[in-house]
Amino acid sequence: MAANSPIRLGVNIDHVATVRNARGGRHPDPVKAAEIAIAAGADGITAHLREDRRHIVDDDVTRLKARIAKPLNLEMAATAEMVGIACKVRPHAACIVPERRQERTTEGGLDAAGQRAALRDSVARLAEAGIRVSLFIAAEPAQIEAAAAIGAPAIEIHTGAWCDAVTARDAAAASAEFERIVRGAALAQRAGLEVHAGHGLDFITAEQIAQLPEIVELNIGHFLIGEAIFDGLGDMVRKMHAAINRGRRKIGAGG
Ligand code: PXP
Repeated sequence: MAANSPIRLGVNIDHVATVRNARGGRHPDPVKAAEIAIAAGADGITAHLREDRRHIVDDDVTRLKARIAKPLNLEMAATAEMVGIACKVRPHAACIVPERRQERTTEGGLDAAGQRAALRDSVARLAEAGIRVSLFIAAEPAQIEAAAAIGAPAIEIHTGAWCDAVTARDAAAASAEFERIVRGAALAQRAGLEVHAGHGLDFITAEQIAQLPEIVELNIGHFLIGEAIFDGLGDMVRKMHAAINRGRRKIGAGG
């Protein structure tokens, strides 16, 4: 692979659903956000169907699969319920993430090394349904080796600890965490795994991690949705003023 081959950007639209669910209605629709992201060049859409349905709900997943023109990457726990839903909806990809404390490593990634048998079964069922599976793990040799042994074709390196250290301006921790990711990405590629990364990325950390040639996909949500509020709010206030002023002009005009 050429060092400068493009990286796929998967846009995570979970937090559009978080805002929608705060009112319990249909607005803002994460499917519309996905369509806007794709129109702007997103290479795929990522959505996490959590067991408690706190943001994305089942109907969102069905509508995303039916309506978006780019690959859908479903983040999910390796439970019988979620594997069943994925095999029915058949997203392009599934990223297995931890939801319960006992499924996690201390770094927050999936404890692939600690639950090989269960994960091997879920990965095999998803693969049989034609879904490309990745495991969301910390850049730890034991986890990477377990992911390869389990038969996952890809991993997503958890970048949260590194991004937190960068945000906290803890240069020593940030450098140690980044080195761990550099070594992990190289080890994963040697093990034949496709390497993705995500969690907590912003413009600065995305630019830095994009310099690792092993990484072919980044999945980014929270920062993008947050920044979109800042980028869009001024325009929306102007549009709302225009609507209010149109209403005002109708007083006494028979409108
Ligand atoms: N990748 C995975 C596996 C995730 O679970 C998440 C968070 O839902 C992300 C990427 C995106 O993280 P963020 O929203 O912090 O950009």
